[in-house]
Amino acid sequence: MPIEYSEREKPYELYRKGKREGTWDPDDYDFEQDREDWEQFSEQEQHRFLGSCAAFYDGEEDVTRTLAPYMMALDALENEEMPFDVVQEQMYLAQQVYEEAKHTDLFSRYFEQVFGTHDTEAYREGGYQEAGYSTDDLYDTADELLAAITSGERQQLVYALGEAYLNYMGIVEAQLARSGYLSFDQMIELKAEEMGRDVVLESFQEAIGKVRQDETRHIENGRWVLSKLVEAEPDIVADVYEPRIDEYVQNRVLTEPQQEMPFEGYDEKKIGKQTIQYLQDTIDYIGAEQFEEYSDVRATVSGKQAAD
Ligand SMILES: [Fe+2]
Ligand SMILES: [Fe+2]
Repeated sequence: MPIEYSEREKPYELYRKGKREGTWDPDDYDFEQDREDWEQFSEQEQHRFLGSCAAFYDGEEDVTRTLAPYMMALDALENEEMPFDVVQEQMYLAQQVYEEAKHTDLFSRYFEQVFGTHDTEAYREGGYQEAGYSTDDLYDTADELLAAITSGERQQLVYALGEAYLNYMGIVEAQLARSGYLSFDQMIELKAEEMGRDVVLESFQEAIGKVRQDETRHIENGRWVLSKLVEAEPDIVADVYEPRIDEYVQNRVLTEPQQEMPFEGYDEKKIGKQTIQYLQDTIDYIGAEQFEEYSDVRATVSGKQAAD
């Protein structure tokens, strides 16, 4: 069935936007000045900054390697029975997987040329990796999608897709990555201030700006699909979305890892507040009135914190 150009849905519009915005090349950035700046970071500062970069490097590779089953699962659905055009969404994901590969490419080159290592494991201890919600989970999510495709059962397939989009776009991209950008902003700003400079790691910030722009489209597409899956299976909110969001809140919002913070003036609370707002935005996009426990994220999280 051909795609009708005149009947473009959200994923097609985002795909068109991505054709214009998503064509940047990591190889165009010169990292010479960044390498000089990097040498001005103390050992503790390097360790902390590398901790965040290692999570991103691993994360970008994980999202690149686990997206293909989403396209296969969409393809297994009967398009006429769905409240959106699954083919347009497949086109969108085809673009996304290319962009994720490019993000992996950027981190790979930056690790090589600026950090002088490809070791991520050494920098990830004490972080969230052990707290039960890392991008490693995306491999299990991909396996569950493949199992749902094999089952051939429509509800199982829609539920598996809902869980997959929630994990990938709803949490890894909308929550973990975006709070990571805020952390980069603060560390870089504080270091520039300390050095009496306007900016440090300028190429890093510019390239990450491009990654962020790509991710904004990924997140918007993900939220849109999550809302469409509710039209297909209204119980998905109570059966899939809310338990998964609660798991994220328990593991990543209520549990704070104790990490050394060598950048003086770093404001973790500010990032925490913004991160809660991101989750609220996702829930509002899907329709807050459909959520029982998480219609008001701030109130629910405060209640849980008080009960602890
Ligand atoms: Fe990415
Ligand atoms: Fe992404």
